[in-house]
Amino acid sequence: PTRVLTGITTSGTPHLGNYVGAIRPAIAASRAPGVESFYFLADYHALIKVQQPERVQRSTLEIAAAWLACGLDPDTVHFYRQSDVPETTELTWLLACVAGKGILNRAHAYKAAGDRNRELGEDEDAGVTAGLFMYPVLMAADILLLNAHKVPVGRDQVQHIEMARDFAQRFNHLYGEHFTLPEAAIEEQVATLPGLDGRKMSKSYDNAIPLFAPRGELKKLIAGIVTDSRAPGEAKDTEGSALFQLYQAFAAADETAAMRQAYADGIGWGEAKQRLFERIDAEVAPLREKYDALMAKPAEIEAVLRAGAARLRARYAIPALARLREAVGLRDLT
Ligand code: TYM
Repeated sequence: PTRVLTGITTSGTPHLGNYVGAIRPAIAASRAPGVESFYFLADYHALIKVQQPERVQRSTLEIAAAWLACGLDPDTVHFYRQSDVPETTELTWLLACVAGKGILNRAHAYKAAGDRNRELGEDEDAGVTAGLFMYPVLMAADILLLNAHKVPVGRDQVQHIEMARDFAQRFNHLYGEHFTLPEAAIEEQVATLPGLDGRKMSKSYDNAIPLFAPRGELKKLIAGIVTDSRAPGEAKDTEGSALFQLYQAFAAADETAAMRQAYADGIGWGEAKQRLFERIDAEVAPLREKYDALMAKPAEIEAVLRAGAARLRARYAIPALARLREAVGLRDLT
C-alpha cells in the first residue's frame, strides 16, 4: 500500500489553515483504497517554539480532538503523539550525522530567524537554538521512520520534505537502500490559506481563525478579514482577495464560480463576508459539535493516542531502528 504520513505541531489551537492544508485532505486520503496512513501530533517540534508545558499539553489535546472530530478512524489510521515514539529522536541523530549543515542553513524557519535578528541589528544567532536549526532533521526522521511515500502538507512544508529526500539519499548511498524517498502532496487550490490580514494563516502571526471557534466568534473574526475600500456596486478583484481565497477553500466549483461573478457584479464586502461565514459554518458546525464532546473526555483521547503509539512502535518503529542501528554499526538492542 501507499504510505501517507503527516503531522501538525502542537504549539497552539488548530486553525482553518491546518484543516484545509492538512487535516481535510489527509482524512480523505486515509479513506482511499490501498492506502496506509500515519497521522501524528508533533510535540517534539512544539518544544522548538513553546516552552510552556501546559500549552504544549493543551494543544496536543486540542489537535488530537480536531483530527478525531474531523473523522479520523484510529482503527484504520496510525494515530499517535510523536514523543510517544522515542525511536523518532534516535533516528534524528542517525540522520543528523549524514545531513549537510549547508542544507540546513537554507531552511526557511531558521533563515527567517536570522533575517529578523539582522533587521533588529542584533547578533544573527540571538535566540536561535540548535533545535530550530535541526527542525528539518527531526521532520525527516518522522517521515523516514515509517518510509512514507506521500506527505500531504501546505506549501510552507515542501522544502522540508525535499530535505528529507536529500538525507534519505545520502543515508542510502552510505548504508544501503533503507529509505523510501518521500514526496510532498499539495492541494494546489489551497496550498496557502490566508489569514485575517491576508498573510499566510499561522499560529505565529496572530491572524488565525480557530477551526472550532464558536459560531459567534467565527462570525466576528470573518468580519475582520482585510478588504480594500471599494464600495458595494463597484466590481471587486478576486485576485489577491483573502476573502475570496477562503471562500474557494470551502466551496464547490460552481459556488466559487458564482462568487467570482458576484465579485464582478460588485457584491458588497458585508454580504461577501456573510456568505463566507455561512459556507464555513455549514462545513464546520457538525464537526464542532463532535469536537466539543471529545474535549469533555480527555482520558478517552489519551487512551486512543497511547494505543496508537504502542501499535506503531511494535509493528514499525522498534524493528526499523533495530535494522538502522545495525546498518550504521551500532549494537542491536532488541
Ligand atoms: P504546522 O503545525 O505548522 O502545520 C500543520 C499543517 O498545516 C499546514 N498549514 C497550512 N496549510 C495551508 N494554509 C495555511 N495557512 C497553513 N498553515 C499551516 C502545514 O503546511 C502543515 O501541513 N513541521 C510541521 C509538522 C510536522 C510534519 C512532520 C509534517 C512535523 N513532522 C512530518 C509532515 C511530515 C509543521 O510545523 O506544521
